[in-house]
Amino acid sequence: MQDVSLSPEGNPLGFGRMLRKEDARFVRGQGHYVDDVNLPGMLHSAILRSPYAHARIVSIDTSAAEAHPKVKAVVTGAMLEDLKLAWMPTLSGDVVAVLATDKVRFQGQEVAYVIAEDEYSARDALELIEVEYEPLPVVADAKHALDPDAPVIRDDLEGRVDNKIYDWEAGDADACDAVFASAEVVVAQDMIYPRVHPAPMETCGSVAYLDKVTGKLTIWTTTQAPHAHRTIYALVAGLPEQKIQVISPDIGGGFGNKVGIYPGYVLSIVGSIVTGKPVKWMEDRSENLMSTSFARDYHMHGEIAATREGKILGLRVHVLADHGAFNGVAQPTKFPAGFFHIFTGSYDYPAAHCKVTAVYTNKALGGVAYACSFRITEAVYLVERMVTCLADELKIDPAELRMKNLLRPEQFPYLSPTGWEYDSGDYPRALQEAMRIAGYDELRAEQAARRAAAQEPGADPAAPLMGIGLSFFTEGVGAGPRKHMDILGLGMADGCELRVHPTGKAQLRLSVQTQGQGHETTFAQIVSHVIGLPPEDIEVVHGDTDNTPFGLGTYGSRSTPVSGAAAAVAAQRVKDKARVIAAAALECAVEDLEWEHGRWYVKGDPSQGKTIAQIAMAAHGSLELPEGVEGHLDASVVYNPPNLTYPFGAYICVVDVDPQTGSVKVRRFIAVDDCGPRINPMIVEGQVHGGLADGLGMALMEVIAFDSDGNNLGGSFMDYLLPTSMECPSWELGQTVTPSPHHPIGVKGVGESATVGSPPAVVNAVLDALQIRHADMPFTPAMTWRALQGRPMRP
Ligand code: CDP
Repeated sequence: MQDVSLSPEGNPLGFGRMLRKEDARFVRGQGHYVDDVNLPGMLHSAILRSPYAHARIVSIDTSAAEAHPKVKAVVTGAMLEDLKLAWMPTLSGDVVAVLATDKVRFQGQEVAYVIAEDEYSARDALELIEVEYEPLPVVADAKHALDPDAPVIRDDLEGRVDNKIYDWEAGDADACDAVFASAEVVVAQDMIYPRVHPAPMETCGSVAYLDKVTGKLTIWTTTQAPHAHRTIYALVAGLPEQKIQVISPDIGGGFGNKVGIYPGYVLSIVGSIVTGKPVKWMEDRSENLMSTSFARDYHMHGEIAATREGKILGLRVHVLADHGAFNGVAQPTKFPAGFFHIFTGSYDYPAAHCKVTAVYTNKALGGVAYACSFRITEAVYLVERMVTCLADELKIDPAELRMKNLLRPEQFPYLSPTGWEYDSGDYPRALQEAMRIAGYDELRAEQAARRAAAQEPGADPAAPLMGIGLSFFTEGVGAGPRKHMDILGLGMADGCELRVHPTGKAQLRLSVQTQGQGHETTFAQIVSHVIGLPPEDIEVVHGDTDNTPFGLGTYGSRSTPVSGAAAAVAAQRVKDKARVIAAAALECAVEDLEWEHGRWYVKGDPSQGKTIAQIAMAAHGSLELPEGVEGHLDASVVYNPPNLTYPFGAYICVVDVDPQTGSVKVRRFIAVDDCGPRINPMIVEGQVHGGLADGLGMALMEVIAFDSDGNNLGGSFMDYLLPTSMECPSWELGQTVTPSPHHPIGVKGVGESATVGSPPAVVNAVLDALQIRHADMPFTPAMTWRALQGRPMRP
């Protein structure tokens, strides 16, 4: 791959700013989403959900619903049991009820399913179903899930006597203990990363049609991983995989929410089996917030050891992970706590150990990688809070403490104490750049002046409290090497096919599935970068299992690290083949040809050359091809990444807190990201903007709380707040460029960096403003105000 240049600025035919190809349809309202799929004779459906968090089902009477004139069928768990479809596997090897049979285990769980002529009748008929429940004691707080008298939630699992899912650990406990025993300074802190929801703009849904004549099942569905879904449907329903086509049309945001398979998807298939018609199921916003996968819900206890001068020596962590009633996390099998053990972060110290205990609670299944690479968000939050607490303890400026401990460029590739090999980085440069853009010293001087003024007699009690927060993150994205990573036994490699048609226009077929990240543009740019066709001439095909090669889909910022590499390798193979064909056409030796963007030409005589388009025509024409070269100009690749890529960044947040109302205003936010060369800087900036808004939301307003009966208190956008442009500052972005040494075009993922890196920066800023060591997010006005009064913080 030596021919592929690594210019951070890009070149006109490859990398560089260009408007998104897909926006032509999106800005005209011509996107085609699952809910836009309308088939002849299609029926609609709705799901009856449990009002209780934990209750035994005594009886279900569906007769009145069945009598509704527009209802075609009503399905219950008992009926699914007869079809052996009442339970299905989760992505982490647990099982989840498609429709509850014995008891309900969280509020919002699926209990019955109605298929009707239209969606209004389906929803009306739900009201006619009579369910008798016998309420059971509820476990709503993970801290009490392992109490001896806690009810066993998963009594469906044989031999289960408590609510523990697993204990898992990483790192060297003994070495870590030894470091802590002799450390001059140890700081301990409890913290919660609250339960939040990916809340994509488009909720989940599907349209299923089982053609009983051909035996073919087609399912249009909101999935981030169409190929993995197809395999799982084949395994669950016992249908032959070649007879299943999963189509993922335009997707209105996924953020991890659309990785798993939800009962609704399976029920739409059941609906089609029962009625012989296509059946649509679309959930509403409350259903999405109450029953589809949540994220985080990590209760963490961290301890950091250091010298008095501020050299970090070790970090140890114990996590209590709330996974809800079914373990539905989507983590590589070997890593039940995902990549949490990258919690050692961006710093140089030898000792680290983490232990994670996961428990069942009476909540919806949780723990998805919401805009992060499998729990790295939680890990970055933990380490960045701990380092800030240490700075507070040692009375060292948090930027200075970070600079003192950041990994140095010459340490890469760096093997972390928990076994991860960071591929490349220049961390101090990124932090210096963020501090330069922020004017860090001036900001600290302004803060000192404001604090001094607040001490003066007659100082304004309403004067805002200024806070400055930093974070530095390392992500590990691009899962992943097959020898280490699989999901439900499926290795995490991705296929890609590139065909150059006779007229020099190309099609690139991808296994990954865009949900708004601009793949139709950037993947065309990758191919353009390598073979020199204009991106406009390269059509990206994705989201249809019948027309794309197998791969594990888009989440954890893996598309560009894995599929992007596949696209670059496929393009390189096409370029190599084109060289052989050009040599035949120009009647010279292959070695006599040189490349300039888009064209092979004879060394010393640039007028003698062939463009890729000309070579494509020759490859499909009557030119006699050299022995061993088949016609046509195409290539296919399965890319098995040798390692993850490790993007990183330095973030600085400046807030003003109103001491009288507790409201937090983010005054400035500086984000310096390094994701290697940027294929399309405009798209990267858009990804970073979105992620920063996401992170700000988590730090300041988002939490799905539950009362002690397990009632979900965040089931609508009135209760679960998302940030809007009103809450966001004008983001100030910077960059450094450190290519990945193992990626064919040096790029690292970026889609989720900002969601991972920004929450600790905002939280550190708010706590700096309040001059409090720690309080848990989200810093809503009420929570911030209470923290100011020194009262205990509760969501
Ligand atoms: O997997 P996902 O698409 O969510 O994340 P990603 O691979 O990090 O890419 C997000 C978007 O940013 C895609 O359109 C990428 O091709 C683009 N990107 C880029 O232009 N340059 C990079 N160095 C990394 C990503």
